[in-house]
Amino acid sequence: MVGMTVYGSFPGARPRRLRTTPAMRRMVAETRLDPADLILPAFVREGASEPVPIAAMPGVVQHSVDTLRKAAVEAREAGVSGIMLFGVPEDARKDAAGTAGTDPGGILQVAVRAVKEEVGDELVVMSDLCLDEYTDHGHCGVLDADGRVDNDATLERYAEMAQVQADAGVHVVGPSGMMDGQVGVIRDALDTIGKEDVSILAYTAKYSSAFYGPFREAVASSLRGDRKTYQQDPANLRESLRELALDLQEGADMVMVKPAGPCLDVLARVAESVDVPVAAYQISGEYAMIEAAAEKGWIERDKAILETLTGIRRAGARMILTYWATEVAQKLGGARL
Ligand code: PBG
Repeated sequence: MVGMTVYGSFPGARPRRLRTTPAMRRMVAETRLDPADLILPAFVREGASEPVPIAAMPGVVQHSVDTLRKAAVEAREAGVSGIMLFGVPEDARKDAAGTAGTDPGGILQVAVRAVKEEVGDELVVMSDLCLDEYTDHGHCGVLDADGRVDNDATLERYAEMAQVQADAGVHVVGPSGMMDGQVGVIRDALDTIGKEDVSILAYTAKYSSAFYGPFREAVASSLRGDRKTYQQDPANLRESLRELALDLQEGADMVMVKPAGPCLDVLARVAESVDVPVAAYQISGEYAMIEAAAEKGWIERDKAILETLTGIRRAGARMILTYWATEVAQKLGGARL
């Protein structure tokens, strides 16, 4: 049939037929979200006896070890598949080399042990592998005599970090520092101590983004300046594919694009280029924008959240790190183990 109007005809196809009812739209949906798609990033603060709110991320806190345990159990019960832990040491523990990050008694290692005790292997326990939370200058690596981030000296620190995190029992390490060679060095360091089963989630394309702003408050960052000499320039896509090839060559088990929303094209390209699982990180600024607009009554919060997550899945992410993980998983209908 041809469609007819007084102004003329059009080919008879009517895509609107498949949008007529909620049941019809549900049936033909190409992308579905499942609790297992979601990973919860969580912060734990040394010395905290109760959770400390993060002003720029309403609803997100710096946990005490106790409340982190509860958050992990809650995430598992909701059907979330993993938790990514970030440590926030006491200020006095920060130093130029970030030694609190490699201290077996450091906050992140304590948190990993606590969460493992609570959830065992039922939740994939992941740790941020980076020095920025632990250095007094706030950079992701150690500095050379001229104050520049020293790539190779940093790799030695990362190797040690990987080993203490693995000893604490983590299933996956997430090196987020964007040093060249980090995946390979970490793989070797893990294998050397018999931790062949600990996986590496490579931050393959991590861009230098303005949307990390609220995270800097979340981890009480000491950084002045920026991370442009090691994180990628948001102008570049081909460079991500180069980073991707290197990470795979070095032994990455999973790869990630970050931030998610501003980099959906990068995510799509990465997803179509690889045969390992692909993750995307919906970062603090993406969270804060929606929460802030919703608070002002300018946007429908829950719908906006689902739309962003659906877009990230559609672009090709198997897993999504999002601060809304537990809430969204609960709304999607709970545990599916
Ligand atoms: C650095 C790190 C950052 C985030 C995760 N790991 C911040 C940065 O690179 O400045 C950001 C996460 C977020 O914004 O939600 N180790």
